[in-house]
Amino acid sequence: MTTLSLLTPTGELTLGNHLGALRQMRTTQETDTCYYGVADLHALTLPRDPATLRTTIRRTQTLLLASGLDASTLFRQSRVPTHSELAFLLECTVSTGELNRMIQFKEKGRGNGSTRASLFTYPALMAADILLYRPERVPVGADQRQHIELTRDLALRFNHEYGQVFTVPEIVLPAAGARVMDLQDPTRKMSKSATELAGVIRLLDSPEVIRRKVSRAVTDSEVGPDAVRTDREQKPGVTNLLEILAACGGSAEGITAYGALKRAVTDAVVAELEPLQRRYAELAASPEHVDAVFEAGAATCREVTAPLLAAARAAMGL
Ligand code: ADP
Ligand code: NA
Repeated sequence: MTTLSLLTPTGELTLGNHLGALRQMRTTQETDTCYYGVADLHALTLPRDPATLRTTIRRTQTLLLASGLDASTLFRQSRVPTHSELAFLLECTVSTGELNRMIQFKEKGRGNGSTRASLFTYPALMAADILLYRPERVPVGADQRQHIELTRDLALRFNHEYGQVFTVPEIVLPAAGARVMDLQDPTRKMSKSATELAGVIRLLDSPEVIRRKVSRAVTDSEVGPDAVRTDREQKPGVTNLLEILAACGGSAEGITAYGALKRAVTDAVVAELEPLQRRYAELAASPEHVDAVFEAGAATCREVTAPLLAAARAAMGL
């Protein structure tokens, strides 16, 4: 099996990314051939300060390695030109109507006339990212589902019109309960792209910062022996804390007060992130090693993806 996953360097990776993606990515590499990329081209679809972007890319690379993904091929999207080349070919097969229907474009573009053209054509690049590696399955969050469906449509249409070139991947939804919510607004997911970080635990947050953020997490005013319980509708904050606790290997057994729950969550999260933070500190001290890993990965990707790009070009008459 081939598995592919790309992370956009739009902010510092969070506990949500760790529990919902990185941990599974590490398990998957034990059985699959895995390509894990930093989607730095995708980051440019919105305006960003170059210096900040550079720092975020480096930090994301180092965190991927620190997450134990060294049995996978790690790469930066911008260092594998076949991605942008196939993206252009796919732009020549997708209609503006189809791109207009993408919910993410509607949300991020907001009908703004100065929106970058690349935000509009982003789904073609994402389709190229995926199809180049012929993965049998693509694990995605619900928010990316529409883009993967378009990827499948484009692959099917291309194969029909130009001949069998692409493998049509299956969509794999992450296991239930893998969704970590924002500590301050537990109705929305914890996100590295959030502007307000009080409810977001970042992977490099110190134990003290984690303690503060968890202790200020929104709960509710219920008191009594049954207050600590899972109820996604009525008690989203408490439910989120319980799910984080369980996902980090902790137990709420015997806990009846929110203060004690938050202390247990803090301890579990700190312990969960400790090995990763230790490896990060080691790797951050040798950036040339991180660069070498990603350069070697990019070289592998260029080689692996070249035949498919050549086939797509030839099929279209180039
Ligand atoms: P973010 O919203 O933090 O910018 P992305 O949308 O780039 O994250 O998603 C990167 C990966 O992390 C995806 O596999 C996604 O499913 C996972 N992920 C992101 N946020 C969460 C979350 N709060 N809980 C669980 N998984 C998440
Ligand atoms: Na995002």
